[in-house]
Amino acid sequence: MSILELRELTKEYKRGERAFNAVNSVNLSIERGDFISIIGRSGSGKSTLLNMSAGLIKPTGGKVFFDGQDIFNLTDSSISLLRNEKIGFVPQGQSLLSNFTVLENVCVPWFLFKRAGEPEERAFTLLEKTGIDHLAASYPKELSGGEMRRVAIARALINFPEIIIADEPTSDLDAETTAAIMKLLNAIAREGTAVLIVTHELDTLSYGNKTYMMNSGNLSPHLPA
Ligand SMILES: Nc1ncnc2c1ncn2[C@@H]1O[C@H](COP(=O)(O)OP(=O)(O)O)[C@@H](O)[C@H]1O
Ligand SMILES: [Mg+2]
Repeated sequence: MSILELRELTKEYKRGERAFNAVNSVNLSIERGDFISIIGRSGSGKSTLLNMSAGLIKPTGGKVFFDGQDIFNLTDSSISLLRNEKIGFVPQGQSLLSNFTVLENVCVPWFLFKRAGEPEERAFTLLEKTGIDHLAASYPKELSGGEMRRVAIARALINFPEIIIADEPTSDLDAETTAAIMKLLNAIAREGTAVLIVTHELDTLSYGNKTYMMNSGNLSPHLPA
């Protein structure tokens, strides 16, 4: 069974009087260990697709299955729990809480639902894995863009997700930092957590095992040149 399956997934928006499909009948299956990159121009529907895949916005057509479960058949609170347990979401842009330390930021998803145990030790291990354990006690305003992105990735991993979904995780980073973040995501995929990212950098493609192109809401396989 696929971790995540999108079936005829569609989102219709209205602009003035005119309706259009920001995402148009998209089919995609994501398996354990997959590293899937989606590229495409700004406005082509990439964020809308990711946000529906993560259960954050409701489709106007089609379905999203997570471990075979039709997620939009669930109540809103069940979708929130599923997302918290199974999906590590890395939003576009800066998403850390400024009054919390790096370590506390990584722990936030752990505390959103009642669980046994304490997250600090695991959070610290994830900071080591993402190469920023020396910043555990720092605050977000003291970090570079690349360091903040690493914290967001560590935070996405805290609840042992089945998939990491990241919207342009390298958009504001230099080439060297971009390569480091892509390598980190690649290592995460090799350890068995699926990775689904949106990126508009063609040079990051060599890190994924499957690449798709989004064009006016339509998704198609992207073949290497
Ligand atoms: N809430 C909304 N209401 C109406 N139109 C929207 C909304 N969100 C996005 N859109 C439109 O849908 C299209 C796809 O947007 P988006 O998914 O953000 O694209 P991308 O992430 O590829 O830049 C764009 O034309 C955008 O203007
Ligand atoms: Mg976007």
